[in-house]
Amino acid sequence: MNKLLLAGLLLAALAGCKAEREPDTKTTNVIDATVAADPNSFAQPDKVRIEHINLDLKVDMAAKVLRGSAEYRLQWLDDKANELVLDTRGIDIRSVQGLDGKKWRDLPFKLDAEDAIYGSALRIRMKQQLPQVRINYATRPEASGLQWLAPEMTASKQPFMFSQSQAIHARSWVPLQDTPGVRFTYDARIRTDKSLMALMSADNDPAAKRDGDYRFSMPQKIPSYLLAIAVGDVVFKPISSRAGVWAEPSVVDAAADEFSDTEKMIQVAENLYGPYQWGRYDMLVLPASFPFGGMENPRLSFMTPTVIVGDKSLTSLVAHELAHSWSGNLVTNSSWKDMWLNEGFTSYVENRIVEAVYGKDLATMEDVINQFGLAEEMQGLAPADQLLALAPLVGRDPDEALTGVPYVKGQWFLKFLEERFGREIFDPFLKHWFTTHAFTSTHSAEFERFLEVELLAKHPGKVSIGEVREWLHEPGIPSSATPAQSKRFEAVDAIQAKWLAGKLPAAEFESKAWSTQEWLRFLEKMPATLSPEQMAELDTAFAFTGTANAEIAQRWYPLTVRSGYLQARPSMEAFLTSIGRRKLIMPTYEELAKTPQGREFGLQVFEKARPGYHPITVGSVGKALAEPVPEPATAEEPAK
Ligand code: BES
Ligand code: ZN
Repeated sequence: MNKLLLAGLLLAALAGCKAEREPDTKTTNVIDATVAADPNSFAQPDKVRIEHINLDLKVDMAAKVLRGSAEYRLQWLDDKANELVLDTRGIDIRSVQGLDGKKWRDLPFKLDAEDAIYGSALRIRMKQQLPQVRINYATRPEASGLQWLAPEMTASKQPFMFSQSQAIHARSWVPLQDTPGVRFTYDARIRTDKSLMALMSADNDPAAKRDGDYRFSMPQKIPSYLLAIAVGDVVFKPISSRAGVWAEPSVVDAAADEFSDTEKMIQVAENLYGPYQWGRYDMLVLPASFPFGGMENPRLSFMTPTVIVGDKSLTSLVAHELAHSWSGNLVTNSSWKDMWLNEGFTSYVENRIVEAVYGKDLATMEDVINQFGLAEEMQGLAPADQLLALAPLVGRDPDEALTGVPYVKGQWFLKFLEERFGREIFDPFLKHWFTTHAFTSTHSAEFERFLEVELLAKHPGKVSIGEVREWLHEPGIPSSATPAQSKRFEAVDAIQAKWLAGKLPAAEFESKAWSTQEWLRFLEKMPATLSPEQMAELDTAFAFTGTANAEIAQRWYPLTVRSGYLQARPSMEAFLTSIGRRKLIMPTYEELAKTPQGREFGLQVFEKARPGYHPITVGSVGKALAEPVPEPATAEEPAK
């Protein structure tokens, strides 16, 4: 019998037991023995697990540190275990105590030498398996999971701080078992300057009094990468009775308008996949240095302000982060090699929400854009990185392993299944996956098993297991995939072809009604370089240089670099220094890095922009501009 089959049978047996148990989402810590160890964490969750964390932290904006304590309730699983191993990175541990009977006693601890990617294991030895442990600690200003913004970097000119824990940055601000395979509940007391508001991935009260002393509770079990905090001058505006937006005062109205379809989106997702399980759904709009588009922190998604463009054209970001309330936050990848279970499922659900709220045209255009981006990116990816079910990320930084593959190929796979089985069969199947795996961490082999038993076997003759395996375990895009096709993009392509042939001046385009996506298509489909006259003609007609739409800027500025269109440089610099979202600025830096002069300019801009960038963005830009001029990645590049 082959290993896969054996694993499948084992999983099937285990899942059988699981199904008989009433799911108690609040208290049980489902122990899934099939979840292999996470190579990106030092923790040993097969021996002991954190069940609950109680944080008591003071936020020192001037010193850029969090100081205080974390108290853990532990569940011991191995009789012989006598050590609690936690992940930390750059945390100063003051003391460790254990609850022995009714008394807190000091415990000896040891910090291992620091690993550049994973940080230091904190080892706490104890004679008996104590039920509770407390750590007194302080973070450092350079903590990779926190960004401390100087007042001038925010809209309201007040200090601001926020966390970004995914993938493995929670360990830089709380010592914990930093693996998505462990889930815990938490409470927190956060003390800040009286003039600032604190928020967490927990039960934020829209009516909370701003007094500098805040308490939070997260009663649902979450993995460490969803632990989140933000402190700043933010105010609340409701969207519906259970949804709303937090933002700096000068941004909150525009944000609430842009995101006003949120309640509709929640209802679409609930109709498809079952009730929203997290109480409120709020969003926090961060300053522009936020390194991502969005982050699905439970009950409080963190959002980039760059999607507030006035016409709701980029609100698929809301659909995406909201969708994680099912795919990711409810059903979580147990280690980062299976990230497609989070991001691919979420991209699929996102697109279903977009289709229901804004129509098929927009949903299809977004599919085409994503598939186009994936095809380009895949050319530079090693075959091993083109799989959905990746090999364990041993010795690798999960942030570096982040590509479009889990997102777009993952979504495409689910879309393929949807097309073959039809929505009337596939929608209930997906709902069943979320319901049966709610509040657990899981992996690709379990999905493969579930798919075989619950879909393929029940509806034979529609999809073969060979086709499924090709999607999960082979590089590239399987031949069974249907590429998305958009009529509206065909019209854009036709206009572009005429313009390139010199038969239609830019000023005469019938592009008045074009959406952001049509403009993106227009720019994306351009030849690698254009002539100075062509660039100038486009710029005169459409004012791309200096555009307020960062998605357009993301595609225009690299084209200006390739085409030697230097007039764009001052605006390009303003773009690169005002925004820290990696996806938006990296293509321009990467293009600049290809020539010595470009690299020189890139370094000058980076120098100015750096104080305003998040540590994650600093890392990515620094790498892109590092000497020697990086060759485009090749398929031979060895996996780290
Ligand atoms: N969870 C991700 C962001 C993330 C991924 C942070 C990996 C750290 C490591 C979030 O849900 C996401 O996918 N954001 C996208 C949004 C887009 C696909 C709509 C982003 O930031 O661009
Ligand atoms: Zn996501």
